[in-house]
Amino acid sequence: MKISVFGTGYVGLATGVCFADMGYTVVCLDIDPEKVNKLNLGIPTIFEPGLEELLKRNLAAERLSFTTDYKKAVDASDILFIAVGTPSDENGSANLSYVVSAAESIGQFMTSKKTIMTKSTVPVGTNFLIKKTISETLKKRNAQIEFDIVSNPEFLREGTAIQDCLNPDRIVVGVEHERAAKVIRRLYEPFIKNGAKMIEMDISSAEVTKYAANAFLATKISIMNEFSRLCDKVGANIENVRIGLSADHRIGPHFIYAGVGYGGSCFPKDVKALIHTGQTHDEQLHILEAVEKTNQYQRQRFVERILSRIGKTGQGKKVAVWGVAFKPGTDDIRESPSLYAIEKFVEAGYTVEAYDPVAAENARVSLNSKQVTFKSSQDEVLNDADVLCIFTEWKSFLQPDFPKLKKLMKKPIVFDGRNIYDPEFIKETGIEYHSIGRPSIGAP
Ligand SMILES: NC(=O)c1ccc[n+]([C@@H]2O[C@H](COP(=O)([O-])OP(=O)(O)OC[C@H]3O[C@@H](n4cnc5c(N)ncnc54)[C@H](O)[C@@H]3O)[C@@H](O)[C@H]2O)c1
Repeated sequence: MKISVFGTGYVGLATGVCFADMGYTVVCLDIDPEKVNKLNLGIPTIFEPGLEELLKRNLAAERLSFTTDYKKAVDASDILFIAVGTPSDENGSANLSYVVSAAESIGQFMTSKKTIMTKSTVPVGTNFLIKKTISETLKKRNAQIEFDIVSNPEFLREGTAIQDCLNPDRIVVGVEHERAAKVIRRLYEPFIKNGAKMIEMDISSAEVTKYAANAFLATKISIMNEFSRLCDKVGANIENVRIGLSADHRIGPHFIYAGVGYGGSCFPKDVKALIHTGQTHDEQLHILEAVEKTNQYQRQRFVERILSRIGKTGQGKKVAVWGVAFKPGTDDIRESPSLYAIEKFVEAGYTVEAYDPVAAENARVSLNSKQVTFKSSQDEVLNDADVLCIFTEWKSFLQPDFPKLKKLMKKPIVFDGRNIYDPEFIKETGIEYHSIGRPSIGAP
């Protein structure tokens, strides 16, 4: 079986290298020639642990190649994965223009039977839109070629994308016919042998399952963030509450950490898109509206707390920032709470010096501000800083040299948006420490 993957972002690239590593011949296509050139040279275009090794190994084995040539990629394989982006539109709906454009190109170049699998996260009904788009494009060419559509939502997590792709806990497939299901079972056989569970269903349910999974996880985060604000007000400690909750097996230990709010390219846009889907079907999704609102409020309130401590105007003052990636293990800065906060510090007149081990370049390009400088070490940004704000729980931030930190900073004030330090320990350092949903230490 040969596979072509359309879109070489976090999902398409991980999918391409992992299927190639399982022995399949894979052609990956992207419309961005710069990405394709780099990837053909074995240079990863994103930071993802394990990616470079798989990329180089499978290029060398000639099982993997990258192209911008749609005809070549469509011709090469019977199985075509659509893995292009579905960013948020102004009104919160998923922008399907990349998906539709990929479908049109497939319809334009198809000359034999194909199974078209959509990995992009798409609102319910989109796989049928893909079917319609391909059918209409074929009709314009007077071509009669059979094809099947399959919804195959992706559940990988950035930072562990390769591991997740190689060892998925479940493979959700939405199909119209047994014929397509049979092809998919064969395609995923190596993964199923490795222990992955394949769950087959109808196409609409598969589309909803993906959004429901992200919305559910976002809800867990937002409710903990809401509890953290209550803890702040009543003098309780959200970490104790979390430990108490996690012991309940019905709740479990995952996704119940309070913090500065979720970011990334999935939760924010997928929650918004699901709310929008509800609206278009005259069904208001009250909980998700609250989840989204709480998430926005969490980052806003964190910044308000910082500014009310260090001053609403920042002329001549400096904020040190640790972490711009939306979470550790990735260079993805999309919807990162850190970027929101940096923009607010800049607006207030502060100079910002930031450090991130892998996402600095993406953030520098995105922020493009003279008031923000990226440094190459986490200590460097501390020099003469009026405050240190932590947004990403990178490992190197977990055990810093506190005496050194105190000596380097103008004022040793730390705002920790990820609750990475033990307040009891911080007490001994003489550092003023503020976190989320826990009593502050050493505050005036
Ligand atoms: N990033 C994640 O963690 C993750 C996880 C699960 C699902 N998803 C979903 O997967 C999809 C892709 O996400 P991503 O983060 O990989 O996106 P991305 O933005 O990193 O990459 C998308 C790629 O598609 C390319 N592209 C755009 N139009 C194209 C076209 N017509 N033909 C071929 N290539 C085209 C772009 O150049 C880009 O390289 C989205 O729907 C997303 O919601 C993402």
